[in-house]
Amino acid sequence: MAYNLLKGKKGIIFGALDEKSIAWKTAINAYEEGARLILTNAPIALRMGTIHELSRMVGDAPVIGADATSVEDIENLYVAARDHFDGGIDFILHSVGMSPNVRKGRSYGDLNYEWFQKTLDISALSFHKVMQVAEKLDIMNEWGSIVALSYIAAQRTYPYYSDMAQAKAMLESIARSYGYRMAVKNKVRVNTISQSPTVTTAGTGVGGFDVFMDFAEKMSPLGNATAGDCANYCVVMFSDLTRKVTMQNLMHDGGFSSSGMTENMIELLKK
Ligand SMILES: NC(=O)c1ccc[n+]([C@@H]2O[C@H](COP(=O)([O-])OP(=O)(O)OC[C@H]3O[C@@H](n4cnc5c(N)ncnc54)[C@H](O)[C@@H]3O)[C@@H](O)[C@H]2O)c1
Repeated sequence: MAYNLLKGKKGIIFGALDEKSIAWKTAINAYEEGARLILTNAPIALRMGTIHELSRMVGDAPVIGADATSVEDIENLYVAARDHFDGGIDFILHSVGMSPNVRKGRSYGDLNYEWFQKTLDISALSFHKVMQVAEKLDIMNEWGSIVALSYIAAQRTYPYYSDMAQAKAMLESIARSYGYRMAVKNKVRVNTISQSPTVTTAGTGVGGFDVFMDFAEKMSPLGNATAGDCANYCVVMFSDLTRKVTMQNLMHDGGFSSSGMTENMIELLKK
């Protein structure tokens, strides 16, 4: 059901790789709510993924390659966006994450530090770059909204999440620090959404993911939030209904983060 929540708004969506991606679902929902979009991903993901299919589903949105760790790529992306929209933008979704250490199965006691820095650059620093370049090029319209996606491993330890936990902690911290700056300068809000485990390429790359999912499902009184649920939340955060929400890490997890124990889990452990 569409409510025209984003009628007349223009946005950039980072990170739609395939139809499972949270960014993919967000693009579709944002388009249905009236937004005009630009889609972007790393050049290699443009070649491997199916983003052009998504583009056709969201009004032939331009697809512009940009490595989120490259300031130059982000500059070129914003220049092209200003040209395409004939003005500034109202929202950005940063749905970007990758850890070479996780991908290559390195244990937390045997991390490759060059890869660790890559993890931080791709998954956290890129968020700062996205906002710093936005500020320098003055691309955000007043009362705009910027959202990045996080995970509760920023606050609590989960086996196998490895250096991504540090990346998410940094990501959330950047949202607070840059959120302050964006609010004062331009009335733009910045938040992270801390999402349940979700079946996507990035998600399933974490060791023991199926068990993670099952555990979270049993520990969440409303059940895990799906990628589609997350897309809905992103749309609300881009809409004018949330203008005074900023510098927050917003838990979107079916109640997981506030549950100490659940009946589902008691039943399971009794067996
Ligand atoms: N899936 C989960 O369980 C889960 C839970 C909480 C948070 N998140 C976060 O949600 C976000 C989106 O992930 P997803 O689950 O939709 O998986 P996904 O694999 O579909 O998306 C990750 C995206 O990051 C992009 N990316 C990687 N390196 C990049 C770079 N250098 N430049 C630009 N883009 C790059 C990938 O191409 C991909 O499109 C990530 O930040 C992830 O950490 C995921």
